Amino acid sequence: MISRRDVVQVARRPRVCLSLIGLILALLATGITQAETGERPGPEAVDRGKKLYNAYCVACHKPMGVGEPIVPWSIRRTDLIEAMPLNETSHAWHHGDDQLTVMILDGTDRSRTRMPVWRNSLTEQNAADLIAYMKSLWSDRIVSCQGPKHMDCM
Ligand code: HEC
Repeated sequence: MISRRDVVQVARRPRVCLSLIGLILALLATGITQAETGERPGPEAVDRGKKLYNAYCVACHKPMGVGEPIVPWSIRRTDLIEAMPLNETSHAWHHGDDQLTVMILDGTDRSRTRMPVWRNSLTEQNAADLIAYMKSLWSDRIVSCQGPKHMDCM
């Protein structure tokens, strides 16, 4: 015997599916989705990332992510580590998106004194947008070689 309860449950299932599809469409519409390691993000994410970069990062990593000039060892402070380029000339692209997110929000192991920890002022979405901007400074080949597989591309 099919009870009234079964009928209600069967009837409800499509609604759950529809809500899920709705949620996915809403996420796509608000642009909260992000590209993955080795993928090029969309132009909106790059634009948001560029604004954040120019507000928070450009002082050290310099315009277009070219990084600070290397100080000759004879005159450098021993505790100073230059802010390396974030464009493709250094090794930022050797890290996957997850690692870059941790570096941006929590700092790198070596950098406790200079690379700030941004977790209190920036969100995970901000970090994703900053990575989108960094990727816009990389060529297609470098984007496709990003992360653990970079060794195969050297
Ligand atoms: C006060 C200077 C300063 C500011 C501001 C700064 N950084 Fe850094 N950043 C550094 C230094 C110095 C290093 C190198 C530290 C190290 O090697 O551990 C670094 C390292 C990094 C790395 C690791 C790169 C690699 O190749 O391993 C990333 C990614 C990074 N910064 C992103 C950012 C982003 C994004 C911002 C802005 C939200 C930012 N930084 C702001 C100084 C700065």
